Amino acid sequence: MSEHKHERPPDPSDRAGLSRRGFLKGIGVGTAATGLATAVKPIAEAAASEPGVLGPGEFPLSLNVNGRNIKLNVEPRVTLLDALRNRLDVTGPKKVCDRGTCGACTVLLDGEPVYACSILAVEAEDRQVTTVEGLGAPDRLNAVQKAFVEHDAQQCGFCTPGFVTAASAFVRKHPNASTDEICRGLGGNLCRCGTYAGMLLAVSDAAKGGA
Ligand code: FES
Ligand code: FES
Repeated sequence: MSEHKHERPPDPSDRAGLSRRGFLKGIGVGTAATGLATAVKPIAEAAASEPGVLGPGEFPLSLNVNGRNIKLNVEPRVTLLDALRNRLDVTGPKKVCDRGTCGACTVLLDGEPVYACSILAVEAEDRQVTTVEGLGAPDRLNAVQKAFVEHDAQQCGFCTPGFVTAASAFVRKHPNASTDEICRGLGGNLCRCGTYAGMLLAVSDAAKGGA
């Protein structure tokens, strides 16, 4: 469910200095030789020797996550979700489908909901990343978090961080949203336990009070 635009951020090649044409040319040269091993080597060597090109190994990256500036080293292929969960121990966003269909990995990028499994970590550089951990704390839950607790709007809870994150962005933009609007707005998030009735009540309450 989500108003998720799941925006496509700017081409990471701008930041990474990667050239799709150059990459394809490299593939062409390589595959004209004798196989995968010979194909990969020239590409990697070319990338490593070109100024401004990142990878294929790790490179230094700065992320702002829940208001904290963090430096880490990642390979250019690492998704934002994997960087958060595996490198920064920010495990609120969940890895379920890992292909942009379920919404369990939803985070806010500059306030807009996105699927963290479908964005590279490098694409989040110089942007504000907010996860469910950054929306509130146990002693100061935001309106959506509170409403989820009050309406017992979860079963296994695996989808919940993504729903809460997407819903928090939604109610901020759509105070007093109708049931239909909430259903459409959160259409990018799925709950396999089918806890939709409770979640709808929770988001509806939060929308009245703001989040
Ligand atoms: S894990 Fe990202 S959309 Fe399902
Ligand atoms: S509560 Fe289990 S997937 Fe939603």
